[in-house]
Amino acid sequence: MTVETPALPYDFPDLEPAMSRDSVVFHFLRHQRVCFDRMRALSRDTALGALGLEELIRVTEASPAHRALYRYAAEVWNHNAFWRSMRPRGGGAAHGLIATALAERFGSFERFTHQLKAAASAHFGSGWLWLVWRGGKVEILVTHNAVTPLTRGDTVLLALDLWEHAYYLDHQNRRAAYVTSFLEELVNWEFANSVLAELTRVPDGAAQWTHPPTGVRAERPVAVR
Ligand SMILES: [Fe+2]
Repeated sequence: MTVETPALPYDFPDLEPAMSRDSVVFHFLRHQRVCFDRMRALSRDTALGALGLEELIRVTEASPAHRALYRYAAEVWNHNAFWRSMRPRGGGAAHGLIATALAERFGSFERFTHQLKAAASAHFGSGWLWLVWRGGKVEILVTHNAVTPLTRGDTVLLALDLWEHAYYLDHQNRRAAYVTSFLEELVNWEFANSVLAELTRVPDGAAQWTHPPTGVRAERPVAVR
């Protein structure tokens, strides 16, 4: 098994007007694709090159000799989760399983969004904002740089890229405006619900998503332009 070339679950302009075509093009091709290419270059012709993405991340995370490879592989995985955490005409109040889980954990959807925005604003520098399933409930998690929850026993329900390249073209340095737009216009609750539905069928409750969730189009390669 080898790592598949990253693919968007929608076309470049499909998130407009909330996220511009240029923002998606630059982010996908100039950041995630570059990480993918460098990951492949570092693992080519080695035993690591035969591993799937998640296994490659797990194997390299604890190895100082493979620090760069881990970072590139983790960024490929993190961005895969990020793209699937958004959808055209998304956003708005949560519904379904995730709505129930958020209400149980935070008391109300409004208290959840307040805490999510606060976590995004409080994080200094580059990183990722996550909604994860941990110990039978949802949690907000922030990681630095390329660090991924994949290897921490958490199951990712949503991912939001906090690197400045994720929002600078559309919002310049206004991270708060980007997070608000994500919540109001982009977030894909169907993705979170599909992961939660999968968890209820997995005995150990720690499965990671491995396929496109219900409600988004099948993955297909996107040509470099
Ligand atoms: Fe990014």
